[in-house]
Amino acid sequence: MTVLPPLTQIPPDVVAVADYEPLARERMSPAAWAYFSGGVGDELTLQANSAAYARRLLHPRVLADLRGGHTRVTLLGRTFEHPILLAPVAYQKMAHPEGERATMLGASAMKAGMIVSTQSTVLLEDLAREAQAPLWFQLYVQRDRALTQSLVARAEAAGFEAIVVTVDAPVLGPRNREQRSGFRLMPGVEAVNLRGQPAAATRHLAAGASVFTSGLLEVAPTWTDIAWLRSITRLPVLLKGIMSAEDAARAVQEGVAGIVVSNHGGRTLDTLPATLDVLPRIAAQVAGRVPILFDGGIRRGTDILKALALGASAVLVGRPYLYGLAAAGAPGVAHVINILRTELEFAMVLTGRATVAEIDAGVISSE
Ligand code: FNR
Ligand code: LAC
Repeated sequence: MTVLPPLTQIPPDVVAVADYEPLARERMSPAAWAYFSGGVGDELTLQANSAAYARRLLHPRVLADLRGGHTRVTLLGRTFEHPILLAPVAYQKMAHPEGERATMLGASAMKAGMIVSTQSTVLLEDLAREAQAPLWFQLYVQRDRALTQSLVARAEAAGFEAIVVTVDAPVLGPRNREQRSGFRLMPGVEAVNLRGQPAAATRHLAAGASVFTSGLLEVAPTWTDIAWLRSITRLPVLLKGIMSAEDAARAVQEGVAGIVVSNHGGRTLDTLPATLDVLPRIAAQVAGRVPILFDGGIRRGTDILKALALGASAVLVGRPYLYGLAAAGAPGVAHVINILRTELEFAMVLTGRATVAEIDAGVISSE
């Protein structure tokens, strides 16, 4: 099978996020495609995430005076031009030779916040040097807590503005599509920020082993580690992967600066509900005390509108920009963000909302 090189120009018929999917797919090996696009188990949660938007219809409003409208939001004391951030996605050099650097350039062009994965294939310091938009660091707590501390210190020193601790993946569930594809990291693709550490592999279970006796749970972070992390950094600490109101309540009580409602894009535990379906209950529990970021299945501006309506302060997208990256590098990433932002603006105008703050549950049809 031939793997095509990235496009040097974006074809004029690429007008929606979905148009990037086939372009990305033909630019990677079948195994890399299985890794990026796949989910855990039967992929029911992966499908549920998207289906949840299709189930909700919109309630339009006409003739409102929307002059002076904008998409700006304030998060952690910082103003963002629009509420679309890039979710942490590992190993981006498997999607494009420039990897996270191209993503960062695309995000910078669109003034979009970017959350850089612990498993980035570009050094944190190299990304921070060139970034023209806020960077946050996604942390996987490492077996070696000294290594964890040094990652946090490096991110802080490089100018990252927040630490996003991913709490929903102490073990990586079986992604059957990826397993069947025989997926392995491509030669030369490496989690460079963990160089010399065996850490990345530790969340995978050896064949025939038991999760409970494998040692994985000795490494897995607990609430005590969150308090410790808060004590070792001046940066705001957010938790990513909250799917229950109980955990959201505990997170707020522990003093985190924000949460990310996420089921890891359907990649950790299958048959979890769609993120959009759990969002209202979590938003009611949090009651505005900390910002709620949100991800899972966002492919349209109307999806963003619905998430904002049901309690999200801002959203993250994962696969959409990854497909833009694979198809066309930095311009592909920027174009994907631009498509989503433009679609969000249209949806705001046609539901009579001039600002993100005005987007409430009333934009969703009760018919
Ligand atoms: C992810 N995600 C992820 N999350 C995280 O906290 N750290 C990581 O390193 C990764 N890596 C990763 C790789 C790939 C290939 C995917 C698709 C996803 C999860 C990601 O941040 C986000 O929660 C989901 O991707 C959101 O869903 P959508 O937008 O992809 O549907
Ligand atoms: C994933 C891990 C790296 O979803 O978070 O692939």
